[in-house]
Amino acid sequence: TILHEHLSGDEILIVSNRQPYIHNRRGQKIEVQLPASGLVSALEPVMRACSGVWIAHGNGSADREVVDSRDHVRVPPDHPSYDIRRIWLSPDEESGFYYGFSNEGLWPLCHNAHVRPTFRTSDWEQYVAVNARFAQAVVEEAKTDDPVVLVQDYHFALLPKMVREKLPNATIIMFWHIPWPNSESYGICPWRQEILEGLLGSSIVGFHTREHGNHFLSCIDRILEARIDRDSSTVSYGGRLTAVNPYPISIEWPSRWLENQRPVPDCRVHIRERHAMGPDRLVGIGVDRLDYTKGIIERFLAVERLFELQPEWVGKFSFIQIAAPSRTIIDQYQHFHDQVYALAERINKRFGREGYEPIVLKVKHHEPPDVYEYYRASELCFVTSLHDGMNLVAKEFIAARDDEQGVLILSQFTGAAQELPEALVVNPYDIDQCAAALHMALSMTPKEQRARMRSMRGLIQEFNVYRWAGRMLMDAARMRRRIRVMKQVG
Ligand code: G6P
Repeated sequence: TILHEHLSGDEILIVSNRQPYIHNRRGQKIEVQLPASGLVSALEPVMRACSGVWIAHGNGSADREVVDSRDHVRVPPDHPSYDIRRIWLSPDEESGFYYGFSNEGLWPLCHNAHVRPTFRTSDWEQYVAVNARFAQAVVEEAKTDDPVVLVQDYHFALLPKMVREKLPNATIIMFWHIPWPNSESYGICPWRQEILEGLLGSSIVGFHTREHGNHFLSCIDRILEARIDRDSSTVSYGGRLTAVNPYPISIEWPSRWLENQRPVPDCRVHIRERHAMGPDRLVGIGVDRLDYTKGIIERFLAVERLFELQPEWVGKFSFIQIAAPSRTIIDQYQHFHDQVYALAERINKRFGREGYEPIVLKVKHHEPPDVYEYYRASELCFVTSLHDGMNLVAKEFIAARDDEQGVLILSQFTGAAQELPEALVVNPYDIDQCAAALHMALSMTPKEQRARMRSMRGLIQEFNVYRWAGRMLMDAARMRRRIRVMKQVG
């Protein structure tokens, strides 16, 4: 309803690289997979609520088998309400656009994780070409001359300008799901100007936090001849206005993934049985893509430090890390994977024994119902991102705990930490502090857990993902009204 209030029959098109449903062939059967992506888990419920077309890269082994002649497929499979339009990328396009410029260039450029970006001209050329292909798809899909186009993330920095050239009346909202770097860091990108100009084709550019938006404005200030009004947070460039606003993303509430969950005590028993643990074992959970920005090494080191400082937890506490393989073709991801494995093994050798594994590492894709069962079964959830736009794992853990128990330990370098001071907020680089937080979490009384959890649940219930999208669409609707009035008065 929040969404419908602000839509007033407007046409909605979403563009993202990652699609919400992947169709894969398994022998005779076609299976549907939900990708591990914060972007997708947040936007999918929004799209269910407002219908429209979601334009994305088709990458599943059976994706081509299920589309119609326009490359459309109606989803969700259980109650179809909107269309995915699939774009097929050639291996060269995928390598230059997705792996290359997006994930070896922009991803490390925007995250302070001390991984150097790689910029190749050939990747950039594919990035430009693929942005143009998706922009063309937006134009093809648009039924009106003024659709609302929701462009998602760093894969499509150039697309707003490209769409604007063809559909000057479109309301283009670009949401940047990852951090934006300060102007000095950003300045190393050889195409820094083109990227800013591309983004300024948008009516609104959204970030999770005010700080990221301010960095963006400072970059514009240094690199472009633009006028910036800091009070209204708008940029005037090439005769056009772009608003730059914070919209902290969230999750759906109540979560669909809670509907079929068993009571918390049953989840606890089930997860412990699955990992051959006794019923009294205390469990911490980490849920991430296997990505070097997530601080998984620091997390394991903190568990090790806990055992050194507070040996009473050895044998009683296990940390389960479930990690979805991600971008595995990229060297830095392979290297990270090996490091994470080696560290888990070293710690397990040092503190483990027959029947006791201190760190349980499961590198595999887990579907949301499974992930939610882990959240419900755990004493604590440990989020240690070195830098993260928002981090929805933190919010999902809170949503999963309708028993109001469980402790969230949360990196101060996530967008989420700004909204959730009731979590145990830590600096992931400070291993001793993280170990102390683990000890505190394991020792916390149920009463204190309840007080913290209740307060965090209240916040997320109110500031859920519909609110996130609703605020963006409300700002867009206000702009559209103004433009109509200006046209009428000549
Ligand atoms: C981050 C990005 C998303 C991306 C997700 C998964 O959350 O902001 O755009 O979809 O990671 O990464 P992948 O490369 O698998 O899409």
